[in-house]
Amino acid sequence: MIRLDKFLSQAGVASRRQLREIIRAGAVRIDGVCVTDYAYKFDETACTVTVNGETVREAGTLVVMMNKPAGYITATEDARKATVMELLPPELQGRQLKPIGRLDKETEGLLLFTNDGDLLHRIVSPRHAVEKEYYAEHEGVVTAEDIAQFAGGMLLRDGTRCRPAKLESIGLGKSLITVSEGRYHQVRRMMSARGMFVTYLRRVREGPLRLGELGLGQVRVLSPEEVCLLADRQNNEKNCME
Ligand code: URA
Repeated sequence: MIRLDKFLSQAGVASRRQLREIIRAGAVRIDGVCVTDYAYKFDETACTVTVNGETVREAGTLVVMMNKPAGYITATEDARKATVMELLPPELQGRQLKPIGRLDKETEGLLLFTNDGDLLHRIVSPRHAVEKEYYAEHEGVVTAEDIAQFAGGMLLRDGTRCRPAKLESIGLGKSLITVSEGRYHQVRRMMSARGMFVTYLRRVREGPLRLGELGLGQVRVLSPEEVCLLADRQNNEKNCME
């Protein structure tokens, strides 16, 4: 059970204070019934909530963005190493969140979490090929041949053929790399296959979502609009347009 104002604020609809106004004004319905008490408690996993007629995505669905610092492994639990779960604030603990994909222990940047298994699988599925963009600092200098190798589908040292990717030099030893798959140590291995050892790596974008101003170690709940942007078009129509 969850309080109505808390549910809507976690879904990113508005701030708690604004929400109380919105709820009092009669804009919110739970399973079609208008609720004007912001403290009303309900089962968010079983009810559909609308604000001004728009569905606040599937009840209970939560997507969270973290700016992951180095030093944490992407796992839900580990006996010895610190995991990204420890960085979730207390109000998001116990919400069944799981990381979407992974970042290496030493990689920083955008890491998403959700409690929606379907959404998670859709985003990590190779069929959907969600683009991920990284900022890298590295040894060596990017050449035209490196860029061409990335664009043409690079062969890694172990014989793996990568999907076409984008390499853009933005300064001496600084590059942006965009890939549409999530193999183990993908960016580090691609750079290393071209003789460029990566010394720092940060994910700055996943699909339509950018890390933006989110501070290192900080977390924010995505708005329903951002969640719909992230999901594929078919799903958009199902969850956002009804
Ligand atoms: N590629 C890497 O090498 N590491 C990451 O964490 C993500 C992509």
